Amino acid sequence: MTTPERDSYLERSFGLGGRVAVITGGSGALGGAIARGLAQAGALVAVLARRRGPIDAIAEAIAHEGGEAIGIEADVTDRTQLESAREAVLKRWGRLDVLVNAAGGNLPEAIVNESMPFFDLPAEAFERAVRLNLLGTVLPSQVFARAMNEGEPKGRSIVNISSVTARRPASGVVAYAAAKAGVENFTRWLAVEMARRYGGHIRVNAIAPGFFIAEQNRALLLDAEGGLTDRGKTVVQATPAGRFGVPDELVSTVLWLTGPGASFVNGTVVTVDGGMDAFLGV
Ligand SMILES: NC(=O)c1ccc[n+]([C@@H]2O[C@H](COP(=O)([O-])OP(=O)(O)OC[C@H]3O[C@@H](n4cnc5c(N)ncnc54)[C@H](OP(=O)(O)O)[C@@H]3O)[C@@H](O)[C@H]2O)c1
Repeated sequence: MTTPERDSYLERSFGLGGRVAVITGGSGALGGAIARGLAQAGALVAVLARRRGPIDAIAEAIAHEGGEAIGIEADVTDRTQLESAREAVLKRWGRLDVLVNAAGGNLPEAIVNESMPFFDLPAEAFERAVRLNLLGTVLPSQVFARAMNEGEPKGRSIVNISSVTARRPASGVVAYAAAKAGVENFTRWLAVEMARRYGGHIRVNAIAPGFFIAEQNRALLLDAEGGLTDRGKTVVQATPAGRFGVPDELVSTVLWLTGPGASFVNGTVVTVDGGMDAFLGV
């Protein structure tokens, strides 16, 4: 293959130049890496989360790397805020092509452990974890997909961030794991709905990451000195790669799923976990 042929093949398969992408949780460990990766692939990126400071940090990093980004404050569980965010994106770029639902995470109050037996777990805590992770994926999909379904009808894509705990729950995180199982089921449902009712203009897939250090799980996995907690050691032992993932290791999967080359990939969940899900533990 000559260089121009190879470049043209890569552009046809992975080119995202001029596509507009919204990344919820785009200021977090995984969402931030995904936002920067999409920008480096040529997408125009809206970084969406609640706190302005971390949003600006990622938007500035993208600008520093030669990309184009805006930051939008919104809560993924609030439809009105999401609708304002959609209007801000359309006002800036006039279109919407890609949605990555990366806002979410475990909530400390929804964990079962020695001091919180399952029998006593407050329903409100369970609900908050499900609300953030499941409703916080459904609502942005409703609000942003409405705009993705307009205009030039091709190449639109939603990527939901699930977790390996969706299929094989990790101890303690009962509500989080149940919510992520819901995210995977919703991914398949929405893929079929978009394809059958709207002619397949919007594909919907998910990524199930293994363990990556992030704000929402740092205290569970690392101690104050940065060493592994007992749970952190168990995670590393259960991961054939022998380490946590690095957020940049998710980016190529997002580029593949959102790019034109994945036009026949729909309703699937791609695991990126260093081999954890394949490992029996012996
Ligand atoms: N790290 C892992 O090992 C791992 C593994 C599997 C799956 N995941 C999933 O990956 C996704 C990203 O998590 P992460 O690990 O990168 O965690 P993180 O670093 O804590 O990032 C979470 C992001 O979500 C945003 N967020 C939280 N609640 C929100 C809300 N109500 N509305 C809007 N934005 C909200 C946060 O910003 P604000 O707080 O400012 O809103 C932040 O940008 C989550 O869905 C998580 O469940 C993570």
